[in-house]
Amino acid sequence: MKIVHVASELFPYVKTGGLADAVASLAGTLADRGHTVTVFLPGYRAVLEHGHAINAERKFRLRIEMGDVFLSGEVRVFSPRANLQVFLICRDEFFDRRAAYGNGERDYEDNAERFIFFCKGVVEALRLENIEADIVHAHDWQAALLPLMLRDAERRHGVTLAMKTVCTIHNIAFQGLFPRSVFAQTGLPDELNNVDGLEYYEQINFLKGGILFSDRVTTVSPRYAQEIQTPEFGCGLDGVVQTRADDLVGLLNGVDSAVWNPATDALLPARFTASNLRGKETCRAELLKRCGFDPAFNGPIFGMVCRLTEQKGVDLVLENRDFFLTETCGLVVLGSGDKRMEAELRTLASRAPDKITLCAKLDEAMSHLIEAGADFFVMPSLFEPCGLNQMYSQVYGTIPLTSRVGGLVDTVIDIDAEPERGTGITFAPTAKGLRGGLMRAIELHARKDDYTAVQRRGMARDFSWNTAAAAYEKLYRDAI
Ligand code: ADP
Ligand code: GLC
Repeated sequence: MKIVHVASELFPYVKTGGLADAVASLAGTLADRGHTVTVFLPGYRAVLEHGHAINAERKFRLRIEMGDVFLSGEVRVFSPRANLQVFLICRDEFFDRRAAYGNGERDYEDNAERFIFFCKGVVEALRLENIEADIVHAHDWQAALLPLMLRDAERRHGVTLAMKTVCTIHNIAFQGLFPRSVFAQTGLPDELNNVDGLEYYEQINFLKGGILFSDRVTTVSPRYAQEIQTPEFGCGLDGVVQTRADDLVGLLNGVDSAVWNPATDALLPARFTASNLRGKETCRAELLKRCGFDPAFNGPIFGMVCRLTEQKGVDLVLENRDFFLTETCGLVVLGSGDKRMEAELRTLASRAPDKITLCAKLDEAMSHLIEAGADFFVMPSLFEPCGLNQMYSQVYGTIPLTSRVGGLVDTVIDIDAEPERGTGITFAPTAKGLRGGLMRAIELHARKDDYTAVQRRGMARDFSWNTAAAAYEKLYRDAI
């Protein structure tokens, strides 16, 4: 099939979270399975500085109508592997900035304009290149207007640009909500500027458009597909999602074994497998050293790698500060984001620097070291569309502690609920729930044989992207 993915992040070029990993792995796996895959990505500064973009195979110009003006842009094309091409939609005014979405304090004020331009650039590039796609697959709000823009362009130009469209919701908490005045820039017909279209409580909602007007809608786990049809998790779009229930399916993300594999991971000081865990001890020793902990410390080390946001349950960890201060255990947090959370974690670490530490930055190598060197991985999310680290943790023999929400339910089996199959410790998404999980972890850690058995079961699980890619292929075929 000729498959086009459109997303605002792609590993290794630009990443703020799991979206980048998921899109890269899905696109890459589909390409390996013989499909012709194109990924469209904004030409952010970080991307243009990458060797692949600098040595782009070709470039061509775009002229994009935005409301009553025309803006110019450029497309750069490169091919990082067989069957896969990346098209960068570039315009320095919009994308030559330090970060993808905001300045750290708040979102860029022109995000609506930036991503309308991006989507229009994709439509125009598809038209100029005569890419008659079988599937155009839009990820998250930044690409969600694409299905509507494609159909509109097809009608206006009398061409076929895409047979079918798919919209994937990686996180319904981010919807692309903007003042109603931005509608004019979309160039979409006026009949979409109402409550049956993009309008949402006197604003314009990009994701709503993607949900309503794509041929198929997916989420990144089966549980999340159910959850977002309820007021508790739907972030105000539950009613809209319900109208698409027949065309909605949850397909679980996987683990990219070229990047996340303890047997081959070049970012680690040593490698290991389920049958020989010695290398994991070396990783643990290196982690203790990097954190400035006592090298002889043998209590459990709890690791955490995440954006510091409400979603990730950082406050549940903070509410359990006494546990971490008084129990014989270590805590390593790698994450940045919310300034208050960062400050509170830093204060906590300063009270016990010999066993608690915060590393407040984005650090790919450190994230691998924590996955490999920690004894447990803590993920007390309040909601979690899929979550990747709980899967990485199992693959790396690091037992996950996860709240029972979203994709965490679909990927972690509780050791008490299923003693023969359990691979992790699960709990309700509350401070008390997390505390119970932490206590169970400490008990498990003291029973070495049981601990190792759980570890090995996790490492034996198959989270391969081939399974996920096959499910997407089936979805695409059914749609067509
Ligand atoms: P989300 O996309 O909601 O942030 P996921 O679990 O899907 O959550 O993916 C998070 C990804 O981002 C993982 O690959 C994780 O290792 C990575 N990550 C998060 N914070 C950091 C950080 N500070 N440094 C390096 N990688 C990080
Ligand atoms: C989003 C979600 C996360 C998911 C990721 C990749 O960022 O928050 O749960 O794993 O997308 O699909």
